[in-house]
Amino acid sequence: MKGRFRLSVLCTVTTDSAQKTFAFGQALAAFLRPGGIVALTGPLGAGKTTLAQGILSGLGLERPAASPTFTIINRYRLPHGVCYHIDAYRLDGIGAFFDIGGDEAVSGQAPAVVEWADRIRDALPADALWIDIQYVPGRPEARQLVASGPAERWGRIGELVLAAAGPCQAVAPC
Ligand SMILES: Nc1ncnc2c1ncn2[C@@H]1O[C@H](COP(=O)(O)OP(=O)(O)OP(=O)(O)O)[C@@H](O)[C@H]1O
Ligand SMILES: [Mg+2]
Repeated sequence: MKGRFRLSVLCTVTTDSAQKTFAFGQALAAFLRPGGIVALTGPLGAGKTTLAQGILSGLGLERPAASPTFTIINRYRLPHGVCYHIDAYRLDGIGAFFDIGGDEAVSGQAPAVVEWADRIRDALPADALWIDIQYVPGRPEARQLVASGPAERWGRIGELVLAAAGPCQAVAPC
């Protein structure tokens, strides 16, 4: 990870449907201009693409974003500017990411959402917002989202969670 920031857990939210995860992403989009990076982690099928689709919808994409499973990087030209959707699952290392132009996608000049971000952690800026998505035992339609990042950049996202996705269990500092 480039640069130095102290990462804090900013908030934890449990969504009870894919639609709520999508809605959380839509609301989060308001915080991504001009160039926030959202780094998503979590197991297969957790909901990374669902959250990414919500973010891209919030950024102005009118059709559902196709998962960049094979293209690795999808670039969208939207009314407010360019944004990127990246899926690092099939990447063969950080070198391969840079070979396909990944450095521009995560330069911070434009919003970008990255699935399997832990696979390219060292390519991402230190002020990225990390969101880990996990299954909730016994509740197949629920997911726990834990957001962390530098509070000086992302400290206000707790408010957003309250407004957009229902109860937010704030840890710090929201
Ligand atoms: N609360 C929830 N939030 C998100 N998705 C949910 C939720 N409950 C159920 N789902 C379902 O879980 C699935 C999530 O799929 P999605 O493709 O978003 O996961 P993913 O993490 O991107 O998977 P992959 O690791 O294969 O890329 C969808 O079928 C979605 O409908
Ligand atoms: Mg996915």
